[in-house]
Amino acid sequence: MNTARIIGTPLSPSATKVMLLGSGELGKEVIIALQRLGVETIAVDRYPNAPGHQVAHRSHVIDMTDGAALAALIEREQPHLVVPEIEAIATDTLAALEQAGKITCIPTARAAQLTMNREGIRVLAAETLGLATSPYRFASSLAELEQATAQIGFPCVIKPVMSSSGKGQSKIDSAAEVAAAWDHAAAGSRVDAGRVIVEGFIDFDYEITLLTVRSVDQHGQVTTQFCAPIGHVQVQGDYVESWQPCAMHPLALERAQDIAAKVTGDLGGLGLFGVELFVKGDMVWFSEVSPRPHDTGMVTMATQTQSEFEIHARAILGLPVDVSLRAPGASAVIYGRHEAQGIAFDGLADALRVPGADVRLFGKPESFARRRMGVALATASDTDLARERAKLAASKVTPVIAS
Ligand SMILES: Nc1ncnc2c1ncn2[C@@H]1O[C@H](COP(=O)(O)OP(=O)(O)O)[C@@H](O)[C@H]1O
Ligand SMILES: [Mg+2]
Repeated sequence: MNTARIIGTPLSPSATKVMLLGSGELGKEVIIALQRLGVETIAVDRYPNAPGHQVAHRSHVIDMTDGAALAALIEREQPHLVVPEIEAIATDTLAALEQAGKITCIPTARAAQLTMNREGIRVLAAETLGLATSPYRFASSLAELEQATAQIGFPCVIKPVMSSSGKGQSKIDSAAEVAAAWDHAAAGSRVDAGRVIVEGFIDFDYEITLLTVRSVDQHGQVTTQFCAPIGHVQVQGDYVESWQPCAMHPLALERAQDIAAKVTGDLGGLGLFGVELFVKGDMVWFSEVSPRPHDTGMVTMATQTQSEFEIHARAILGLPVDVSLRAPGASAVIYGRHEAQGIAFDGLADALRVPGADVRLFGKPESFARRRMGVALATASDTDLARERAKLAASKVTPVIAS
């Protein structure tokens, strides 16, 4: 039996305190949703003035992969909930604190541990849960990788086991490209683990994110609900466009929901998960899962009654959620284009004049050419029109070097 948390008054002894580990654009929106429910929010990131820092009650800058620093901060702040927003965290420290009864980690420390490493989640999904995935092998040296790629065949995809947003990832077509892929993986890995996964390339028709929510129902039982599927386009492993709902063969949707229920059921806890799936006809493959809001799910700020961030905030507090769709819509990413501090954005008014369009600028202090600095959102009568509108609105926003 689970009961909803009683919410106190922020900045008073009764406060309900939530700590976000990672305070980028996704964390910022979770914090805003928590603020609206009267929760005291603590934003943590590795650099000052991160997007979430700008909207939280308190902010901290620490190296979140440093277990001792993380434990000391948690001890000082005493949050009721610890909410990882990124993968690069000392998850073993979270597991030890959870084990000792000192924290509640969202959704669970084990989920954070398993999903920060592609090996953990892939072995769970394919071998323990028996879900359909691409064929795969792991390798810890160039020699092992040569053998693994020969077994998997070509084309295949090589990724560091610890990486995100497509970093260090290569699709290769022949044995001649293996050495370069190994070097690229080593350079793109979050930690120099020197370990990669090789996946057989899935020639999918399209890929989706199925936002899946574990929340408490009126009987105090944990229930699983699904948002409408989100279609997306990735360029070099990074999302550039998404839309909702993504039209699917009914059997494919049923299979996608079945996979998502199994994997989130095993990871457990409360909150929203982004389950990434590849679809071809009525066939569905599990790819990976984020135990937290997903970047492609930013579209839900335009399309759903409650965005993925509002749903996450409510679910983790033991409150009911509404996963209903409000209108078809789309999102398109706005990149920094410049390598500079404190850039400015021209053309916002033109972007907002696009019918049905809206824009979020994240307020990141430093821009990189391929850094996501904002997103355009749009609704329309159908997703094709919404995608056109979102892309048009994004194209109107021009990052410039501030004078
Ligand atoms: N085995 C594969 N077959 C086909 N495309 C793939 C495969 N693995 C990854 N991709 C493509 O690369 C994107 C990023 O890969 P993913 O494993 O999700 O890495 P990340 O953790 O960086 O998001 C996927 O969304 C998909 O478009
Ligand atoms: Mg992914």
